[in-house]
Amino acid sequence: MSKNIVLIGFMGTGKSTVGKELADKLGMKFVDSDEVIKEDSDKTIEEIFAEDGEDYFRNLETKVISDLSQRDNLVISTGGGVVLKENNIKLLNQNGIVILLTATPEVILMRVKNTDRPLLQVEKPLEKIKELLAEREEFYNIAKYQVDTSSLEVDEVIKKIEEIII
Ligand code: S3P
Repeated sequence: MSKNIVLIGFMGTGKSTVGKELADKLGMKFVDSDEVIKEDSDKTIEEIFAEDGEDYFRNLETKVISDLSQRDNLVISTGGGVVLKENNIKLLNQNGIVILLTATPEVILMRVKNTDRPLLQVEKPLEKIKELLAEREEFYNIAKYQVDTSSLEVDEVIKKIEEIII
């Protein structure tokens, strides 16, 4: 049995891209919690936010995290807001190595600007990114390990993660 590798961090920090490649490289299964939520509810994340609201989404997310944290040998990519519920992190920590991916607000904006992230559909997305990062900073910083992905290629991020987990 091997522990899960759990990637947390803001939108656009590379959790899914890195997670997929890392899982391939390590021969582990990759799971993206947003994808599980989409499959389970048969809706896109945007539809869930628009039709059911953020609180409803957060409850679905908590349920998925609780299920995933019972399993092992997974690389788990989480949604950027997973840290908002303390219990999510507690559960993920129990059977996983939690690694925070970070990036500067400008890099985040560049990576997410042509996507439909519901929380960033505002007039000034850079301001919103900075505001959310400031609000969430204390929660993200509970991770023992961090990798700043701002100026790294995917394989360089993977190398850093491998150094952490060996
Ligand atoms: C969110 C991040 C998104 C998704 C949802 C909410 C957030 O996931 O869960 O739009 O609150 O930061 P990604 O971090 O994978 O974009």
